[in-house]
Amino acid sequence: MNNAVAGFSKLSKKEKINWIANEYFSTPDEALNIIRNYWNSDEKLQQLHDEFIENTITNLYIPLGVAPNFLINGNYKTIPMAIEESSVVAAASKSAKYWATRGGFKATVIDTEKIGQVHFTFNGDAQKLKEFFTEIKSKFFLDTQSITKNMQQRGGGILDIHLKDKRDLLDNYFQLHATFETKDSMGANFINSCLEQFATTLKEEAQNADLELQVIMSILSNYVPNCIVRAEVSCPVEDLTEKHIPNPQDFAQRFVQAVQIAEVEPFRAVTHNKGIMNGVDAVVLATGNDFRAIEAGVHAYASRNGQYSSLSHAKIENGIFTFWLEIPLALGTVGGLTSLHPLVKLCLEILQKPSAKELMEIVAVAGLAQNFAALRSLTTTGIQEGHMKMHLNNIINQFEANEEERHLIKVHFKKTAVSHSAVVEFIENLRK
Ligand code: MEV
Repeated sequence: MNNAVAGFSKLSKKEKINWIANEYFSTPDEALNIIRNYWNSDEKLQQLHDEFIENTITNLYIPLGVAPNFLINGNYKTIPMAIEESSVVAAASKSAKYWATRGGFKATVIDTEKIGQVHFTFNGDAQKLKEFFTEIKSKFFLDTQSITKNMQQRGGGILDIHLKDKRDLLDNYFQLHATFETKDSMGANFINSCLEQFATTLKEEAQNADLELQVIMSILSNYVPNCIVRAEVSCPVEDLTEKHIPNPQDFAQRFVQAVQIAEVEPFRAVTHNKGIMNGVDAVVLATGNDFRAIEAGVHAYASRNGQYSSLSHAKIENGIFTFWLEIPLALGTVGGLTSLHPLVKLCLEILQKPSAKELMEIVAVAGLAQNFAALRSLTTTGIQEGHMKMHLNNIINQFEANEEERHLIKVHFKKTAVSHSAVVEFIENLRK
């Protein structure tokens, strides 16, 4: 059994890694070597990363790739993607190329409203509370002026505040439901600061008015059903050429059916949407945004009608194939990691310093492209063909194959199905 440790956060980095190595490894020196191997040789850069979180011991690398040739609203973009899954960047690039010759991607931001709530309980006269709220509503705006000043200069701020009676859900439960516009910042700090001030104002004013209420908590919501972007591709069905299905009409129909299955069948919808999130998360991470917030919000949106369903849709109408998705994305291109992490800054420069709205469009397109690539494979060859090609590379690397071995393996597995054991056997035979 391992020991608990007191005051770990106060230990030096050296003491921390020594404790980890001695506590959990039979060969501590090997563990220390791995940890140190992933330190950046530039001490200042390492320190920057150390300070992002507490108790940093080293860095976990995730590859940062790029998918070029994305034609979005008439402009070409190269999309940076941070992801460990081997086939994602290749799939994105393939989709980008496919649609670049068929009109490209169209993306539109529908709305950018963010949400935050002050949750509180009150067991007095609800009518009195309503009147009290109407009376003091302007005070919420007044008391947050020092917080909202800069945001207002940038065209954002608090949009509105509502009192909501939630007693049908929970005894005595009410909330202040506030909406915000945060322009190019994701706005978490701004919203939470406003909300905490609302809570203070609410408590003070209630006391003055002899109303007894108890604030439980104040926090933004990561569910942003009015912060929505739409991405779309469309082309005449006859342009939907696909080498594995000679008749474009057949391909289009099968594709639409695959989407319809994800619309009605939650087991399929989850995997379908996971494929969309392969693209979304990779760009969200590369641009320094909070992928947990995005994931939580997107999946809540996928269940908004009471059953988890597909985020994307497809149709054939008057000979035109259209494939689109709508997702909630609360993203920022200023503040937070976007100004701190050198690689995040670099990625935003590759994207030509987009506004938050432009980034919403790019991320949605990456999701749609990924979904298109997955469905294209699934409805034609199956996904294993592409996956195993990438998997083959990973096995080759794992066995540290030399140039000649690499060549022989690749030639052999062009004609033979890839499986882990088949590749291992082939390498072992080569090396006999
Ligand atoms: C794998 O990461 C994603 C897919 O399973 C998505 C899908 O099934 O649509 C290929």
